[in-house]
Amino acid sequence: MNFDEIIDRRGTHCAKWDKMETVYGVSPEDGLPMWVADTDFRAPDVVLDRMRDMIAHGVFGYFDNTDEYTGAIRWWMDNRHGWKVEPDWIFTTTGLVNGVGMCLDTFTAPGDGIVLFTPVYHAFAKVIRNAGRKVVECEMANEDGRYTLDFETWDAQMTGDEKMVILCSPHNPGGRVWTREELQGVGDFCRRHDLLLISDEIHHDLVYPGQKHLPMPVADPTITDRLMMLTAPSKTFNVAGLHTGNVIIPDDKLRERFAARMAALNLSGNSMGQAVLAAAYSPEGAAWVDELMVYLDGNRRLFDTAIADIPGLKSMELDATFLAWVDFSGTGMERAEFTRRVEQQAGIAANHGTTFGLGGDNFLRFNLGTQRARIEDACARLSAAFGDLQ
Ligand SMILES: Cc1ncc(COP(=O)(O)O)c(C=O)c1O
Repeated sequence: MNFDEIIDRRGTHCAKWDKMETVYGVSPEDGLPMWVADTDFRAPDVVLDRMRDMIAHGVFGYFDNTDEYTGAIRWWMDNRHGWKVEPDWIFTTTGLVNGVGMCLDTFTAPGDGIVLFTPVYHAFAKVIRNAGRKVVECEMANEDGRYTLDFETWDAQMTGDEKMVILCSPHNPGGRVWTREELQGVGDFCRRHDLLLISDEIHHDLVYPGQKHLPMPVADPTITDRLMMLTAPSKTFNVAGLHTGNVIIPDDKLRERFAARMAALNLSGNSMGQAVLAAAYSPEGAAWVDELMVYLDGNRRLFDTAIADIPGLKSMELDATFLAWVDFSGTGMERAEFTRRVEQQAGIAANHGTTFGLGGDNFLRFNLGTQRARIEDACARLSAAFGDLQ
């Protein structure tokens, strides 16, 4: 796989490139989109070949048998993550934000509190508010540039109105791979306050060499009676536009309730998304991911070195994800000023930290899932935009 190949995505209805001028005022002609969390890489051949076969066949009628799809998920979870999944635990949703929405809809009521460990992926708060539930922001501690879970403070914050926690594991932003002890701590927190738990593990494959992601039910097998696991091939294989996510529910009673809601809305997956997942979750797909992570590791090192050379800027050390989380507080600048420099001087569209909730204000998130030459360009642009600090 040649991850260096520059692919022009402009004019393809691509959110990251084609919407950046509207959202950021940064032109796709000469700007760099480092916001929306997909990559600029082509999916692996094993995926593209499967799509080509379907197109050559040319019939996209109703389909029925999902054995290949569930079998591939079982194989992937067992082989890559050490978690054994039964086929009837698996539901297909229109991506994982939809999976979160379905869980809120099924297991909580309007007005219920939903706990987020912030700063965290912005769409969680959005979907909670859109569902008429209440966002309960529990701010993580930032210990020397690394997020940690502050259960003692959060215990005191609980009022009894909370019904659910949404955990992001590995964490977006900041890229933490949570340890077994930390995940067990999340389990204990849920038991102490009688909370259900969504574990969104969409970034589980994007783990850097030397790190090991633990699925929540592997870290804490006793949590399964409160657990909804969310996984997808979308980030890993850059197929988010196919909108295929998995909600995996090991507990019989929770599963029954979720199945009833899915049936009431008559929801099911689409044939292309399921075929792509089955192709990706294979030995060929696994080999591609291993190569991808070596490449992304190179991007991350290059970017972090350049950021470290700019006085006042600090990029969190990522255990996982291609999403760099840069702290600008050391510059002493107002948020409007460092954001203006990044967008208008450097010509880079990066996510605003404010949208990630409490603790995000002084940060911008930069997507490193692109060709190395573009990362080099981004580094040069940022060095120039903050050149007066040297
Ligand atoms: C933690 C997390 N969950 C879900 C999503 C999006 O999932 P989907 O596109 O399947 O709705 C993202 C995208 O960045 C994410 O970071």
